[in-house]
Amino acid sequence: MKSMLNIVVFSGAGMSAESGIQTFRDSNGLWENHRIEDVATPQAWQKDPDLVTSFYNERRKSVILAKPNNAHEGVVELEELGDVLVITQNIDDLHERAGSSNVLHLHGNIRLAKSSGPDQEKAYYPINGWKLDNTSVCPDGYRLRPHVVWFGEEVPSYEKAAELLPSADVLIVIGTSLQVYPAAGLLQFATNAQQKFIIDPKADQLDIPSDFIKLNATASDGMSTVIRELKKRNS
Ligand code: APR
Repeated sequence: MKSMLNIVVFSGAGMSAESGIQTFRDSNGLWENHRIEDVATPQAWQKDPDLVTSFYNERRKSVILAKPNNAHEGVVELEELGDVLVITQNIDDLHERAGSSNVLHLHGNIRLAKSSGPDQEKAYYPINGWKLDNTSVCPDGYRLRPHVVWFGEEVPSYEKAAELLPSADVLIVIGTSLQVYPAAGLLQFATNAQQKFIIDPKADQLDIPSDFIKLNATASDGMSTVIRELKKRNS
């Protein structure tokens, strides 16, 4: 029995671009049309929780209407080659809806809500449909907010991701500009990965270590190339 690979997929907004979900820093990206400080910081929530709630309601609506694309399905296909852990910066649930069962959300999950009080990581509550109501209150008495990590907030699953990365034989980075920390810094923990790929139409413009194989491609085209390559190398 061939030894099964430990594969880690590290994904960003480019993973969901072909599903019609805006990235953040491409032309016409989300941060071109919204000021981060108005909608994605704890201060924004203090200042205008209704604005923040409706910003994420709109994004949740587009996530629900979107479908997983061939790249998400390619990540599921990798499970034929071994154990696959998805570490995603995305707050959409397209990896899960494609069938990935081991997904770690670094920046939260837009389909869930949590308390806006001090114990906000204690429990997460599924949001039915696209709208988190302005009057929704958590059992602890605080208003419910989206389970999304805002700029300036801790990344609760960072330590877990850092612990899991050293076991990766294969690391596939896909659809991220690697500009946001601490998430982007996690790649340094993949110290034992013999095969490292980065998939991005602008891969050759990204500042990444030389041991990564660069694929200047969309997520779906890049994933099919990597799957073919891995099957060839590990069959
Ligand atoms: N296929 C693959 N990659 C793509 C595609 C595509 N079809 N389209 C765009 N990309 C690439 C872009 O070239 C870019 O490198 O996806 C990347 C998207 O980068 P960002 O918009 O910066 O998104 P991301 O890296 O995920 O941002 C990280 O920033 O705003 C915060 O919390 C937010 O999780 C997000 C974090």
